[in-house]
Amino acid sequence: MAISVTEIGATYVAEIEGVDLSAPLDGETVAAIRQAWWDHSILVLRGQSINQEQHIAFSRHFGELQVHSVKDWLLPDHPEILVLSNRGRGGVKPLDNGGAYWHSDMTYEAKPPMGSILHGLTVPPEGGDTLYADMYAAYEALDDETKELIDGRIAVHNYRHRYMKMAKGGKRPQPSAEQLAQWQDTEHPVAFIHPESGRKALYINEGFTVAIKGLEPDESEALLARLYAHCVQPQFIYAHKWRPGDIVMWDNRCTMHCATRYDVAKYERTMHRTTIKGAALCHVAAA
Ligand SMILES: [Fe+2]
Repeated sequence: MAISVTEIGATYVAEIEGVDLSAPLDGETVAAIRQAWWDHSILVLRGQSINQEQHIAFSRHFGELQVHSVKDWLLPDHPEILVLSNRGRGGVKPLDNGGAYWHSDMTYEAKPPMGSILHGLTVPPEGGDTLYADMYAAYEALDDETKELIDGRIAVHNYRHRYMKMAKGGKRPQPSAEQLAQWQDTEHPVAFIHPESGRKALYINEGFTVAIKGLEPDESEALLARLYAHCVQPQFIYAHKWRPGDIVMWDNRCTMHCATRYDVAKYERTMHRTTIKGAALCHVAAA
């Protein structure tokens, strides 16, 4: 099957055409998609009418799948699929604007995911877009002084802070003892070398990064706030406007994402996500 790869909006985003994911893919097609994914951090495939098994089968071409620690959001028969929905279809995620903060998925894991593959089932006609930030370009655009300050530094990530904030606001149930035990601090480089591309990328996110080690708390907070503001400047952003049937697959290591708000009472937004396991990240040595 011949596929076409066309850059859209930004050099790090490409649309793939000529692929029907409801049919088995041959090795050549899988290899071409994989190569396109290393060449572009984000791939978009429009108009895919696939069931849960086909979503899982496609995702497994890129690695083993990771199951989320919040079991309530998983499809009972297919726990590899996380349901993101404001209507609770197949899951019980509360009625809110889920994911409306800048983050990379599950960076609080010791081996954070390599990527995520999101399938839009029902999408609002306005709002509910996903914004993606190019963390390679964000790193490269930092001034030398900031690069020196962060190269070789380690950041602490934890899911507990984010979850408890939402639980306090009544948007999540109180966590179980098992979840609390699972949500330990993990450490990752603030900037890392991507194992496939060899390029450096920033690896911090507003969702789950809680501190930069070796700095006073106020310094850490100020530096993180400055880095977040830097990363989400318009030149680093691709905004995906969803249509039903879209698949967006992103390299979770060199991008951040954030959902935009929409009218949750008026519109349904239901998506299925698979998450591909990753490995520990390589440090960028201090200059
Ligand atoms: Fe996410």
